[in-house]
Amino acid sequence: MNWEQWSAVDRYINETLVQENSALNEALRSNAAADLPAIDVSPAQGRQLQLLARMIGARRILEVGTLGGYSTIWMARALPDDGALISFEAEPRYADVAVANVAHAELADRVDIRVGDAHELFPKLIAEQPEPFDFVFIDADKQSNPEYFRWALDVTRSGGVIVVDNVIRNGAIVDDPDDPGSRGARELHELLGREPRVSATTIQTVGSKGWDGFAIALVN
Ligand SMILES: C[S@@+](CC[C@H](N)C(=O)[O-])C[C@H]1O[C@@H](n2cnc3c(N)ncnc32)[C@H](O)[C@@H]1O
Repeated sequence: MNWEQWSAVDRYINETLVQENSALNEALRSNAAADLPAIDVSPAQGRQLQLLARMIGARRILEVGTLGGYSTIWMARALPDDGALISFEAEPRYADVAVANVAHAELADRVDIRVGDAHELFPKLIAEQPEPFDFVFIDADKQSNPEYFRWALDVTRSGGVIVVDNVIRNGAIVDDPDDPGSRGARELHELLGREPRVSATTIQTVGSKGWDGFAIALVN
């Protein structure tokens, strides 16, 4: 199997099951026009996040790493009308594109994009004593995943779900353990394995984004 085959199967899944609508396609077009890196989740992964959020009836979602808001739109569409999604993005230029994309998707009423380093935004959010989140998606600087996960756990309700993207990294998690991203993924797995407050697993994925995986933790 190779990347072309994985991508062809991904296209088939997208055509038959995912069927993105125009606001999602438009978000990807705006991202490309603004020269944002094409490192958003794939359509099938966006749908996967949306389904997970719907399965637990998520009303409050937290995201770390907005980019142009593609995953944000997928997840915000899982929310009821009175739901809320907060997303952290370090790059003001990316956040501006995301705000426009979210507005175009008619989700501005429930999405709050906060600009800054998540290392500063997380403690600020915790100090606000927010209503607990139901669903958290961590998809920013990979070496910080263990730190982000610990903070996420502090603000997620029992029965909530925390998903961390890019934890397999084309196998680098075992082949290249000293790479900073791999170190983040390995520390995260060790933390998940010994943390009594969660039950976790990792689902390996292949597709248009290569060979990677989502770590998924259910808060007990
Ligand atoms: C992989 S992209 C996010 C993709 C997005 N979740 C999607 O699927 O559409 C990672 C994003 O995290 C942001 N980022 C990296 N380090 C960060 C940090 N310390 N705090 C907040 N955002 C950060 C990057 O600027 C980038 O936009």
